[in-house]
Amino acid sequence: MQVLAVNGSPRKNGNTAALLKTVLEVCTNAGFETELYQVGGREIHGCKGCKSCWKNKGRCVQSDWINELYPQMKIADAIILGSPTYFFDLTPEIKAVMDRTGYISRADGFTFNRKVAAGVSAVRRAGGVATLDSMQHFFLINGMIVPGSSYLNVSLACEPGDVERDAEGLQTMKTLGENIVWLVKKIHG
Ligand SMILES: Cc1cc2nc3c(=O)[nH]c(=O)nc-3n(C[C@H](O)[C@H](O)[C@H](O)COP(=O)(O)O)c2cc1C
Repeated sequence: MQVLAVNGSPRKNGNTAALLKTVLEVCTNAGFETELYQVGGREIHGCKGCKSCWKNKGRCVQSDWINELYPQMKIADAIILGSPTYFFDLTPEIKAVMDRTGYISRADGFTFNRKVAAGVSAVRRAGGVATLDSMQHFFLINGMIVPGSSYLNVSLACEPGDVERDAEGLQTMKTLGENIVWLVKKIHG
């Protein structure tokens, strides 16, 4: 079983990365293959809406890292998107991942349908739920199955490393990891 986490924070070793690693560690310990893919801070372009992916079956006409990331999302059993909260919403990197791989996957035969999916967010004070909602809309409109946790998957943190002081936030990530493992096994067991 494969779990792919995508970090949309430009801080490679920031709070969102720490949250994603916490979820992945649980999955690794359960014997799953895991990978953390860094997108935050990379050059990004939004979807052009040109519909070339419908002709090119699963490839974007813009030749960049999205064409490297999409095949990894396509084979993953579970996908976790991580974004810090920026002005009550996602980072543009994660938005670009959602728009572009979402369209590509639909052109490629709705390949995200019934994959397990979850979003996580690091937030200094407020807006984390809106960020999660944006990711969850993407999951639900693409037929993905979203497990819950012991609370919403948000941790209160500002400077890198702050997540370590949010015990409840970390526990929420661990429980999320356990529920991802449980759900993937139920689906593929
Ligand atoms: C451009 C920008 C916008 C932000 N907007 C918010 C916000 O709306 N609400 C909030 O509580 N924190 C906000 N923050 C703080 C980040 O969410 C917080 O520092 C988070 O821990 C960053 O995660 P990271 O270490 O993974 O990058 C913002 C930070 C930046 C750089």
